[in-house]
Amino acid sequence: MARQLPIGVLISGNGTNLQAIIDAIEARALDAKIEVVLSNKADAYGLARAQKHNLYTAVLDHKSFSSREAYDQAVVDILRRCKVELVVLAGFMRLLSPLFIKAYSNRIMNIHPALLPAFPGLRVQKKALDHGVRFSGCTVHFVNDECDEGPIIMQAVVPVFPDDSESVLAARILKQEHKIYPRAIQLYAERKVHIVGRRVMVDDLSKDEKQVLIQPQI
Ligand code: GRF
Repeated sequence: MARQLPIGVLISGNGTNLQAIIDAIEARALDAKIEVVLSNKADAYGLARAQKHNLYTAVLDHKSFSSREAYDQAVVDILRRCKVELVVLAGFMRLLSPLFIKAYSNRIMNIHPALLPAFPGLRVQKKALDHGVRFSGCTVHFVNDECDEGPIIMQAVVPVFPDDSESVLAARILKQEHKIYPRAIQLYAERKVHIVGRRVMVDDLSKDEKQVLIQPQI
């Protein structure tokens, strides 16, 4: 059996991406082991998902810490104690301090529900709709000091229809998130992703120039 990459998943809410990662591990499509699921919110539904699969969970409420650094240090301490090698942000609604980023330099991944660098920040499905783009999607990227700025590992594209509601578009994007996040982590586990400057090189990348999307269709 392949070596299982020890990961820690950080959540704040529903945890559907966490669920996709759990499912991929159980289906043996992802050679990883979730050593801890950590939430900054005690009522995050993702915690119940984790417990259902007998995963170790931790709740660290940021409101009981005096500073962002103190909070992040406590999170890092738990991750280190659990011997986590890759930190997976899955709907963790907090910005990480430089202390955290340095502790896990190039070993933190995030998923964002837009095609970065377009629409960083929050409520980005609404921003994509308001802007009138024909496509949006999701991005798995490494986390660096700037919010939603780090090197891009994988993206999926979905169409945006002018009469989409924010929630319809969000659901369309989320479906793809659940596909690409476990896959990006697997590429990392296989040591196939390499950060070169601000780019990520992926080994064995298949190049298909016909993979073109046009909308409205011709
Ligand atoms: C996802 O849309 C993700 O892209 C964003 O937060 C949301 C988390 O959803 N970072 P879930 O908790 O995984 O269901």
